[in-house]
Amino acid sequence: MEKLNIAGGEPLRGSVHISGAKNSAVALIPATILADSTVTIEGLPKISDIFILRDLLREIGGNVHLEKGEMVVDPTPMISMPLPNGKVKKLRASYYLMGAMLGRFKKAVIGLPGGCHLGPRPIDQHIKGFEALGAEVTNEQGAIYLRAEKLVGARIYLDVVSVGATINIMLAAVMAEGKTIIENAAKEPEIIDVATLLANMGAKIKGAGTDVIRIEGVKSLHGCRHAIIPDRIEAGTFMIAGAAMGKEVLIDNVIPTHLESLIAKIREMGIRIETSNDQVLVIGGQKEIKPVDIKTLVYPGFPTDLQQPMTALLTKARGTSVVTDTVYSARFKHVDELRRMGSDIKVEGRSAIITGTKSLQSAKVKASDLRAGACLVVAGLIADGVTEITGLEHIDRGYSNLEEKLTRLGAAVWREKLSQEEIEQLQNS
Ligand code: EPZ
Repeated sequence: MEKLNIAGGEPLRGSVHISGAKNSAVALIPATILADSTVTIEGLPKISDIFILRDLLREIGGNVHLEKGEMVVDPTPMISMPLPNGKVKKLRASYYLMGAMLGRFKKAVIGLPGGCHLGPRPIDQHIKGFEALGAEVTNEQGAIYLRAEKLVGARIYLDVVSVGATINIMLAAVMAEGKTIIENAAKEPEIIDVATLLANMGAKIKGAGTDVIRIEGVKSLHGCRHAIIPDRIEAGTFMIAGAAMGKEVLIDNVIPTHLESLIAKIREMGIRIETSNDQVLVIGGQKEIKPVDIKTLVYPGFPTDLQQPMTALLTKARGTSVVTDTVYSARFKHVDELRRMGSDIKVEGRSAIITGTKSLQSAKVKASDLRAGACLVVAGLIADGVTEITGLEHIDRGYSNLEEKLTRLGAAVWREKLSQEEIEQLQNS
């Protein structure tokens, strides 16, 4: 077990290269199951979720080679192996194996997914979609069983705008007979990325990135090469760190239009940001940051995944900010940890009310989930003294080479093994 130490107060300067998008990658990799020849995905981030998915594809018989961010998948030997337990439980995105295996084999058994605890995270809309396509879906002892004689295209209206359900239904529908129409679909860039891969594999799919996606089923899909989009949430996290502690931080390999809501908010705080084709320059160092109110929404609204790191930045603002999460009901576990660092934050229902303080103090804190971890990293960069962050398994699920990237920007950050005493303290906490 390790901890991440951050000696706060160091100004950040220089450039950071953003990795491939985690939330695309975790769908692109299962999508390879649908092909009848080799699929290569380039630009994958070096994060634990990717290693788990590689192992899961191997478990069902695929030949998978992963090196330097390039995954080569030969899906031809795969079989519809039941995966009720084990690694599937380690990440939420293992639910994409349901859509992909159902699409290819017309049957699948997948354990109910794990992932960050952010309040209830049902998958009823995924199931509604699979059933509409003709699958019988049952929940038996914590695993979802899916079976279909055949899959037939359907018109599916999502009652909740869901990234996962939109992608999962796409995966199941691309080889169904006839036409599928997904209405009230999510519009996140990761959905377009998955649709692009599927189209390169020979799928007939239109409208990804709008709220109506139309799919004409095809008999088979072939291999191809695909380059993943940059991770807008990683980019956003570095933009927030730059806004907090940066002199000039250049975020490289980013699509600025994916982050318009964040850019607007950072500008509203009085921080300068310049954008070009694939770069964003954050010019921080202002004496005063203005408070702002934020409401998370589905894309293109403010991303819930950046709400937590943004809260750390808002502790520096002069005045009171309100952050409301309309996507998840309980994504505020980071607040208790920020309070340990001297912040003044109240949580009321779905909102955090943050009153800026002169400074944050270092503390021993624990990441409860991935973006809570990102929040604590930003707070550690701001705080006086050495902040020690545990719960790194969450951060490692989503941030590729985090220490190296921060160190290159001038932050004082290092990993250290936990002592036996610290491990016992953690286990008892
Ligand atoms: C994706 O989760 C991301 N994960 C999340 O990122 C992100 O927070 C979320 O989208 C919202 O942007 C991946 O892409 C792997 P949803 P997903 O289905 O697809 C409710 C991170 O930190 N809902 O769009 O699981 C749900 O409870 C992670 O990188 C239903 O009610 O999210 C939530 O309130 C965390 N029924 C809302 O919809 C369903 O069947 C949006 O969820 C599905 C979802």
